[in-house]
Amino acid sequence: MQKIVVQGGVPLRGEVTVSGAKNAVLPILCGALLADGPVEIANVPNLHDVATTARLLRELGASIEHDVDGARFLIDARDARGHVAPYDLVRTMRASVLVLGPLLARHGAAEVSLPGGCAIGSRPVDLHIHAMQALGAEVEVEHGYIKARARRLRGGRIEFPVVSVGATENALMAASLAEGTTVIDNAAREPEIVDLAECLRALGADIEGEGGARIVVRGVERLSGGRHAVVPDRIETGTFLVAAAMTGGRVTATAARADTQQAVLDKLAEAGAKVDVVGDAITVDMDGRRPRAVDLVTEPYPGFPTDMQAQFMALNCIAEGTGVIDERIFENRFMHVNELMRLGADIQIDGHRATVCGVERLSGAPVMATDLRASASLILAGLVAEGETVINRIYHLDRGYEHIERKLSGLGARIQRID
Ligand code: UD1
Repeated sequence: MQKIVVQGGVPLRGEVTVSGAKNAVLPILCGALLADGPVEIANVPNLHDVATTARLLRELGASIEHDVDGARFLIDARDARGHVAPYDLVRTMRASVLVLGPLLARHGAAEVSLPGGCAIGSRPVDLHIHAMQALGAEVEVEHGYIKARARRLRGGRIEFPVVSVGATENALMAASLAEGTTVIDNAAREPEIVDLAECLRALGADIEGEGGARIVVRGVERLSGGRHAVVPDRIETGTFLVAAAMTGGRVTATAARADTQQAVLDKLAEAGAKVDVVGDAITVDMDGRRPRAVDLVTEPYPGFPTDMQAQFMALNCIAEGTGVIDERIFENRFMHVNELMRLGADIQIDGHRATVCGVERLSGAPVMATDLRASASLILAGLVAEGETVINRIYHLDRGYEHIERKLSGLGARIQRID
């Protein structure tokens, strides 16, 4: 099994190019199932989860081609007739549930394996099911599958009791081909929702209000082919900027979108970093200083993202002062805490709150990655720890970060992947 080995102590310097957003490309690839013409997607990140989604689309009968470096996909789902997303694929990637809306809207039937548990919490799919029912589908859950049917979906009102990114995406995709108008209330407002809506619109969908809490979708008879480029990954961007702040360095993230991550940039400034935005470049300059600890509460967008919580926990571990981190989105997203403590961090957990007292130094040790963003936090901690940190189980990282060790070594980090 591969591992990542980091020798800490180098302030990161230089420029790093941000890839397309994982959380935007996955729904967009699933959305291509709605189109009855070829869909070209650019700025596709080279990630394990993208490969899994491509496998799933092929399993459903779509043809997928990509260029040599895998950044441009051409998807043709005209002859895709399959409607079953099998357990073997869904269990490795929860986002597979995003084929539910497209399959139902396009074929009138979908069978999608229940994604099941996950390291960061129970993550149910009741809201996805509720949305499909509100559009007139009959849904049953049996033998571990969500089985949904509808002759043709009809527009309706969907009001989500809890903000859900994935359920909003499924609703948006299904409503695009429904008969009549759908109003989605308490919709997720994440930039990835906006990106999906822009992509669907490029295929001919009639959508208004994305980025706000109410989205209105007027269903159309068919979606055609079209083109779209995926929005930059705000979580990848944030991870590199936190790395700069923790190591006392100066890093510019290019091909980034500052307007999609104000909450993160504000926290970096609060931690003492100088943050500059020029066009699509964001620079964090820490100028050799030690960061100050920050308090934060994770919330739906535009609040502070849960996907950046673990990285800021790593920052607080070596910051001056004490920071309180309140995780409000997922019930069990502190799996990185024990591993950070193995590196010498001082963290107390009380329910969904973690109090982190900054220490002067961490010391390298072998650690185990437990989920995607937790893995990133361990790399960040390794970058400042004295000596060597070995991160095991890095397959989580490859699900969501494109060549993270190459990008970090480009900034001067002493990091390598070993077998
Ligand atoms: C997406 C992101 C993930 C991010 C999360 C929150 C993708 C591929 N993944 O996940 O990286 O951490 O948003 O920003 O985009 N919930 C229910 N019932 C449901 C669905 C969700 O109770 O049917 C709950 C969840 O347990 C959680 C909350 O709603 O507590 C938010 O989850 P949701 O926004 O749905 O997350 P995902 O779309 O799975």
